[in-house]
Amino acid sequence: MDSAIRTIFWKDDAVVMIDQKALPHEERHLKFTDYKDVITAIKDLTVRGAPAIGVAAAMGIALGALHLATSSKEDFKLSFYEICDQFSRTRPTARNLFWAIERMKKRFDEALSGSPDQIKRVLVEEAIRICEEDIAINREMGMQGRFLMEDGDKILTHCNAGALATAGYGTALGVIRAASEEGKRLHVFVNETRPVLQGARLTAWELKKDNIPATLITDSMAGFLMKQGKISKVIVGADRIAANGDVANKIGTYSLAVLAKEHNIPFYVAAPLSTIDISIKNGDEIPIEERNAEEITTIRGIRVAPEGVQVYNPAFDVTPNRYITAIVTEAGVVFPPYQEGIGKIARHLKK
Ligand code: MRU
Repeated sequence: MDSAIRTIFWKDDAVVMIDQKALPHEERHLKFTDYKDVITAIKDLTVRGAPAIGVAAAMGIALGALHLATSSKEDFKLSFYEICDQFSRTRPTARNLFWAIERMKKRFDEALSGSPDQIKRVLVEEAIRICEEDIAINREMGMQGRFLMEDGDKILTHCNAGALATAGYGTALGVIRAASEEGKRLHVFVNETRPVLQGARLTAWELKKDNIPATLITDSMAGFLMKQGKISKVIVGADRIAANGDVANKIGTYSLAVLAKEHNIPFYVAAPLSTIDISIKNGDEIPIEERNAEEITTIRGIRVAPEGVQVYNPAFDVTPNRYITAIVTEAGVVFPPYQEGIGKIARHLKK
């Protein structure tokens, strides 16, 4: 079983991505030849999900570099770093974004002795490599994590941590896919994930495409289903993982984790090593993105709240490590105590 969804790829010196804002109504690809449009696509959620944002940034940076005038190397470098800065101001919580930018800067610096044209090609190659590696990493994560899923499991997931949130295959959905591929019969409960409905629009769409049985619920139903014995596991993705194993993920994840603990349901997180931020001691230090009020006051352009109402719209929350049963990465599954396990595993991260 392979959903074969390619979220983002490089073609003919352009960045091509599936338009996630149009899903599930329309499956269309957009082609970007100006890096500024890639920045807009990241900000407006045309492309979203921490690993996919990292890939989009790497490709956007390569695209920007490709079109830079290169009369002097000094100016080339300054302009390149300025483009990188613009990407770093898009989605503050997604660790993979900053990891990808650092990797592109490192490649640029290493290639600096070459001609501008050679440097540009090196950057394009690196962005493509980051994209291809992401798919391989997700497949490996699936292999590492699939033993956590048992035949007959009823698994709750939140937001979209699937092929669409990555270059392909997915993190949390990757683990579900890998377990399904080895014949385990799973049923996935999909939280709709307000305010932007990544669960209803994207996860439900992906699971349908893969013929994995799924039931869509609203976010506030999760506790009741757990009480009814309808959920045996929870698995989600992550936007940033602190050195102590605290996890930032889509708003609503924390409530799910607390509910899961109350009902003795294992709560798993699946994320690549590039989501781990060992420079951050714990979840209190993770920057949380706040998004615009319209995401809450309107649904698909239709107003659902009174004009002028005050709105608070944090896009992510932090789940303390004590609620997390295990963290699945491509380098293995980490169990508590996380400080030690994460420290060891983070050494495998490619920089
Ligand atoms: O705001 P989004 O849609 O970018 O948020 C995405 C999530 O919270 C995902 O769960 C997370 O990035 C992990 S995706 C593999």
